[in-house]
Amino acid sequence: MNQDIVLTRSEGQVGVVQLNRPETLNAVSFEMLGRLGTALEGFDADDGIHVIVAHGCDRAFAAGADITDMADSQTVPWYKTDPLAAWERIARIRKPIVAAVTGYALGGGCELAMMCDVVIAGESAKFGQPEVKIGLIPGAGGTQRLIRAVGKAIAMDMILTGRMLSAGEALQAGMVSRVVPDERCLGEAMDLARELAEKRSAFALRVAKEAVLKAHESFLSQGLRDERNLFYLLCATEDHSEGMKAFIEKREPRFTGR
Ligand code: CAA
Repeated sequence: MNQDIVLTRSEGQVGVVQLNRPETLNAVSFEMLGRLGTALEGFDADDGIHVIVAHGCDRAFAAGADITDMADSQTVPWYKTDPLAAWERIARIRKPIVAAVTGYALGGGCELAMMCDVVIAGESAKFGQPEVKIGLIPGAGGTQRLIRAVGKAIAMDMILTGRMLSAGEALQAGMVSRVVPDERCLGEAMDLARELAEKRSAFALRVAKEAVLKAHESFLSQGLRDERNLFYLLCATEDHSEGMKAFIEKREPRFTGR
């Protein structure tokens, strides 16, 4: 079963990765994160692949990091082992990644979309950083990349309230570049990826990605490290334990601020 949680295929010079745990709305377990990193790195190293497309299932691109993986997280071990650094493997991919997002892109799912280079949203797409609702903060770059993607006002609103942006709002805010009907979403991403792969220099694409990322990379690595340390800090709180427990028990959390 584990073998299928990240599916890969190639079509011409386009490598495609699909997150495939629809029964959990593609919650990104550490297992899935590792497989995703390996799949993307495989395409990155393959000279026959010029562009990568990433997608999920109809209901979710990904509903975040797998909360059941985090239920026992503790500050000291997590600070020491830094498990969230595994997300950086995705950010280090040098070929362009086009994301096709339908349904939920929440928490780590929203952060994953922001690590992709062009985001095409289906009309059902919903983007959010709801970690605060479970006593946490984003831990895969959300506090750093969202502010660069949509500006401070909207980023703060999303991160403090956990509210989701619709596809239309995400387009207006600059998080995504195109909104299409859901049934066209993957096709649109594939068409774009094929066009880039067939009609552009693969090397120029890679250099262009590197150059554009330079614009927001200054201070990003320090910010990402700081974000993870603050995330690990929250793992010591009673509210973090309560938030995780409440989600798993399907009830509202009772936060005490401790
Ligand atoms: N982790 C683990 N399981 C999850 C999950 C997650 N992030 N998101 C959804 N699931 C599971 C649910 O537990 C449920 O499983 P069961 O069928 O076994 O009960 C299944 O997916 C379907 O979900 P729901 O029944 O909840 O579906 P819904 O339509 O009522 O609600 C939702 C959808 C609003 C996305 C809701 O599932 C939800 O709020 N999910 C959690 C979103 C979240 O908090 N994401 C952030 C995670 S923390 C993070 O990502 C940290 C980081 O930055 C790295």
